[in-house]
Amino acid sequence: MNRRRFLAHSLALGGGSLLTGASSSLSQPSAPKPVNPPQTSSAGSSHFPDGFLWGLATASYQVEGAWNEDGKGESIWDRFTHTVGKIKGGATGDIACDQYHLYPQDIAILQRLNQKSYRFSISWPRIQPTGTGAANQKGLDHYSKFVDTLLEAGIRPFCTLYHWDLSQALEDRGGWPNRDLAGYFADYAGILAKNLGDRVTVWAPFNMPWSFTNLGYGTGIFPPGRANYADFLKAAHTVNLAQGEAFRALKAASSKATVGSAYGMAPAYPKTASERDRAATERYHAMHNIYFLETAVHGRYPKAFVGETPYETMGYRAGDDRIMKVPLDWIGFHYYTRRIVSDAGDAFRPGAGGSLATETADTAGGADRDTQTGAVMPTEGPLTDGGLEVWPRGIYDLVMQISREYNHPIIEITESGCGYLDSPYDKAGGRVPDTRRISFFRDELAELARAIADGAKVRAFHAWSLVDNFEWADGYTQRYGLTYVDYRDQKRTVKDSGLWYGKLAASNRLDHDS
Ligand code: BGC
Ligand code: BGC
Repeated sequence: MNRRRFLAHSLALGGGSLLTGASSSLSQPSAPKPVNPPQTSSAGSSHFPDGFLWGLATASYQVEGAWNEDGKGESIWDRFTHTVGKIKGGATGDIACDQYHLYPQDIAILQRLNQKSYRFSISWPRIQPTGTGAANQKGLDHYSKFVDTLLEAGIRPFCTLYHWDLSQALEDRGGWPNRDLAGYFADYAGILAKNLGDRVTVWAPFNMPWSFTNLGYGTGIFPPGRANYADFLKAAHTVNLAQGEAFRALKAASSKATVGSAYGMAPAYPKTASERDRAATERYHAMHNIYFLETAVHGRYPKAFVGETPYETMGYRAGDDRIMKVPLDWIGFHYYTRRIVSDAGDAFRPGAGGSLATETADTAGGADRDTQTGAVMPTEGPLTDGGLEVWPRGIYDLVMQISREYNHPIIEITESGCGYLDSPYDKAGGRVPDTRRISFFRDELAELARAIADGAKVRAFHAWSLVDNFEWADGYTQRYGLTYVDYRDQKRTVKDSGLWYGKLAASNRLDHDS
């Protein structure tokens, strides 16, 4: 299917039966809308607002390498990847893209591609090797030089405080289910703001908090590899407290600090128009998309559970609402793919649903006991090599939903991207013709432009990723970069998608056909 037909197809489906009648705010108004609504002011192209922040994103463990240099402490990802059998191909992030040493090259690529924002994360164990106590000056010096180099290149540093590399020493003290980590995290945030806050103004405490708490403590797919649903609930509550505490610590140490988020979100659509599937979709949204947003904005948990919110299991204490509640300056979230959700209550009824009734937790594609939802990623759109469905329309629906539900906040898209395995087509490594990635971004960004035209206050878009990098449990078997990395010699080759994205950043104009 060519791109145009695919887009029309996705719009038709998106506006069709999956959504009609749903109570979720992803439902369509009943008045008929054109199936392929005009996306643009001028035919064939979209203009982004002046000053729109085009950016690229990475995360410390995925790109830095230098895992034990300059006083850095061991992280849970170091421990996990050094354990046999956890990662495809036995890969580790020991060297990764060696960005710790090669960052001037990477920042030069950002500059060459006319980027205005670089979203990177700081490795907590570089700053505090055991997670608490005095700061490691060498770690601070590294990020200080790093930030200066970005600013000299005219690029806004967007700093994520935590992209999953917890100090192993803190895990040994109980990890995120231990409520004390909220205070330690706030101390760390204060150190960063004190040392970098004269230059960094944009901060996000946590990358994808649902994922690292659920996959790390609920299902054990990620480090520390614990699989206990109660631990997930506790970890998530600590992180909600930590988000609030970090917000205050950043603001206290830096008057210029603005604080937002980097949540992972997937627009959720009910499988059928039934009341049960629509309610399940609301619960899915509450658990997967806004479990760390509703707590910040309103100081309360969203209605994610069938029955009462399990406050006791979470370790919730009186007054926690006031710790969690903070006026985020903007809301950041990622978009990769969508979910179709159905009620899974039957599967959990003893005697009725078989094995699910005894399972403790879910994965993103499975069924979840406490929310009693089943979620699948459909395969109507083409799949990336990374296995995710390409569904451009999803970003429009998600951005509009969050805009409506949270009173039209300033939004940053903190990540979006696709895994494709294209490699240089000659030995000299001249070009990487990754045309599918160009189509992915072109179609998605047309949908984002449409959301902006319809009033969403989106000010930034960060493509994942600046460079191919360590893709967690998949090791180096996936390539999400707009720049190719040859891991044998660390040579970077900007892919065709990177060149395309660089032109877009310079012109602010998206041509739908090129
Ligand atoms: C709704 C939000 C609401 C939240 C908490 C969500 O499903 O869409 O508007 O704030 O639940 O109840
Ligand atoms: C994560 C990245 C990851 C990317 C691609 C995002 O959700 O934040 O760390 O590499 O997805 O899977």
